[in-house]
Amino acid sequence: MPHQFDFLVIGSGIAGLSYATKLAMHFEKLQQSVRIGVITKVQADETNTKYAQGGIAAVWSEDDSFEKHIEDTMVAGDFLSDRHIVEIVVNEGPGRIQELISYGTRFDKEHGGDEYDLAKEGGHSDFRILHFKDITGAEIERALLEKANSLKSIEIFTHFYAVELITRHQLGETVHRYDTDNKCFGAYVLDTQTGKVEQFLAKTTLLATGGIGNIYQNTTNPSIATGDGIAMAYRAKGIGKDMEFIQFHPTALYEPGKKPNFLISEAVRGFGGILRTRKGETFMENYDPRLSLAPRDIVARAIDSEMKKAGDPHVYLDVTHCDYEKFIEHFPNITAYCLDHLGLDIRKDYIPVVPAQHYLCGGIRVNEWGQTNIQFLYAVGECSCTGLHGANRLASNSLLEAVVFGHRAYEKTVELLDQAVMPANIPAWNDAGTTHPEELVLVTEMKKELESIMSNYVGIVRSNRRLKRAMDRLELIYLEHEELYRQSKVSAPICELRNMIEVAYLVIKMAMARRENSGLHFNLDNVK
Ligand code: FAD
Ligand code: SIN
Repeated sequence: MPHQFDFLVIGSGIAGLSYATKLAMHFEKLQQSVRIGVITKVQADETNTKYAQGGIAAVWSEDDSFEKHIEDTMVAGDFLSDRHIVEIVVNEGPGRIQELISYGTRFDKEHGGDEYDLAKEGGHSDFRILHFKDITGAEIERALLEKANSLKSIEIFTHFYAVELITRHQLGETVHRYDTDNKCFGAYVLDTQTGKVEQFLAKTTLLATGGIGNIYQNTTNPSIATGDGIAMAYRAKGIGKDMEFIQFHPTALYEPGKKPNFLISEAVRGFGGILRTRKGETFMENYDPRLSLAPRDIVARAIDSEMKKAGDPHVYLDVTHCDYEKFIEHFPNITAYCLDHLGLDIRKDYIPVVPAQHYLCGGIRVNEWGQTNIQFLYAVGECSCTGLHGANRLASNSLLEAVVFGHRAYEKTVELLDQAVMPANIPAWNDAGTTHPEELVLVTEMKKELESIMSNYVGIVRSNRRLKRAMDRLELIYLEHEELYRQSKVSAPICELRNMIEVAYLVIKMAMARRENSGLHFNLDNVK
């Protein structure tokens, strides 16, 4: 029997939970009973959201202004951001953060006062980052999950993996990518504990599946970030946008062989941390007058260039001159991690850091309400491309975008709900003739090859030759994997690899198509 919902939410990070809680509160207020199914492929809190450190950006102090936040976002995005969307997010941000606070989210306050302690990060012209120590994301995730669990209409399904969206294609109809009358009716979802694929039908579906970090060898993203939502939407004839803009965080901790890479928050540089070469020399003055607090694309490229010049595997972040008591108060998690994992005493030791994939600025193209080109399918959070980030995301604007668009998607969902129709003839998942693959080693090895291709040829610095090589190699993996996929009963690892190959294809294709260097896209063969 299919599961039947009013609303299906795929993902339990800040984007999915913001949307689900809003819907639930709306219908509870109207005393209307609805079913909201939230599915998550592992435990509910295992999300990129949980690992966010620095905080959430918003205009909060008298000295700051919406205009300055808008301008900083435009500058960081290399003026490829959509100004209208930037204005929406910046203007609506404080109200949405106030709601997070009303759900019980704690942000640090200044000593002995009621004022929030606002931090600064790269590219921000003012202090506007609300944070909870250096574990802001874990605090937001905790509060949102508690809120969601307190609302009766929300049911959270953990260890349920969305395999494919259900759209008009499943009804045997032909729909092209730019047709405007495609519709979504939910998803086929694998119960990873029973191995069965079930229908999760819904009047409205939200993709909130997060990022794609695991297509790279070095990433700050947890293992759930495999681009599933983007690949599912693309297969269903959704539209991908700005996929070439991959953000590499300049300062992930250098720990060879460790995946994901532990992050050393940008707020550490905002606190006074200084980048140095292995010889202890500063170098950012050779790249940008904003030094270590220049936007991420510039800092990451500068570090990459210094590492290549010197043949070093990392550079250093120096916080030895910082007030230790204050540092440990703001960054207890980072301080403890450095000590426990590398034996570093940050009062006297420099922290070895290296750039690592961190964030995808592009994703599923959506409008100002989070609507995709497929009716009744929304996308919010890192899997979506609203136009906010342009060619490079400003630090701490991602959590902000997710809460603002979670709200906007909820508003549009409610407005359009009456128009949703559910066809009667949706077929069950058909895996006749498939078997459980005998050797998952094939999947593991293909995944390693994919990571290596993306890291070596589609990283911080690209060239036409590298991109072509990446596409040629990817095609071989694609063909091998498609054959395996056709013969196999679905499992999360097989589906994840399929999705990773698909998003890698989109990244390479869009990188090849962009002929000028902007923000995070830097191709040695481009003129600008
Ligand atoms: P996520 O929080 O990643 O949630 C994705 C959800 O989708 C998960 O529940 C997952 O299980 C589910 N899912 C995925 N695929 C499937 C599937 N096939 N089936 C079922 N479920 C699925 N941003 C900031 O603004 N400020 C910061 O300080 C900051 N720090 C960061 C630090 C780190 C280390 C990292 C990795 C990111 C940081 N970011 C920060 C970025 C930000 O955390 C993310 O962009 C944001 O949390 C994404 O939220 P989301 O809800 O879109 O996705
Ligand atoms: C960080 O703390 O440096 C991450 C902030 C972000 O990704 O926005």
